[in-house]
Amino acid sequence: MSHIWNKYDYNIDMKLLNFEKFINKETMARFMARYELFKLIRGVKGSIIECGVHYGGGVMAWAKLSTLLEPYAIRRKIIGFDTFEGFPEINNKDLESEGNTDLEAGRFFSHNYIYDELVECIDMYDKNRYLDSMYLNSKDKVELVKGDARVTIPEYISRNNHLVVSMLFLDFDLYEPTKVALENLVKRIPKGGVIVFDEINNELWKGDYRRSGIFRVVQQSGNKEIRF
Ligand SMILES: C[S@@+](CC[C@H](N)C(=O)[O-])C[C@H]1O[C@@H](n2cnc3c(N)ncnc32)[C@H](O)[C@@H]1O
Repeated sequence: MSHIWNKYDYNIDMKLLNFEKFINKETMARFMARYELFKLIRGVKGSIIECGVHYGGGVMAWAKLSTLLEPYAIRRKIIGFDTFEGFPEINNKDLESEGNTDLEAGRFFSHNYIYDELVECIDMYDKNRYLDSMYLNSKDKVELVKGDARVTIPEYISRNNHLVVSMLFLDFDLYEPTKVALENLVKRIPKGGVIVFDEINNELWKGDYRRSGIFRVVQQSGNKEIRF
């Protein structure tokens, strides 16, 4: 699709206004899935935690859905954890997924400037919302926590012991940070909250779920499985 985008040289804002022309159906489906997930937690107290931000589409989707659908939810924050430098290291348990060439340190590193770009996008987003920004500092609705989540998640909790989690979106892809996220954050999810396992039942990403505690969590929660 990028060849058509590049071939016809007109205003990019106008192209973005017609984004449905350019995105493929899988990208549309991903957004629809995020919308459906968001609707599940609309009435549930707590912040949305995205574990693994990468380029930031997910974080910004949650933020904009919150502003559009619940501008009064002034305490709901969107908190994204990422190194912004890709995978820090690979545990042996991850390497059980044979044939996955993404399993090496540094994978999912995008660009040096992607964190700065995302901060600028958050600034633009802050300028385009009103009710919730009256109560929170403009930077407070979306929070990016940069660094190794094995360290930053416990640190974040110790600084924010009030944290309640309405949606835990697990997309680190790796065993160790997923385990830390589950151990620290599941107990903060109230009834009705949602845990999303981005790579569940995927043999290419065995490590993050096979041993990180997912089965215990799923068994104990009396969960309802929803597939997208
Ligand atoms: C699959 S991407 C996330 C995609 C994103 N959720 C989305 O929907 O576009 C996985 C991300 O997890 C991050 N990651 C993996 N291990 C991490 C760790 N220990 N600490 C922080 N970030 C980590 C990587 O840097 C990478 O950006």
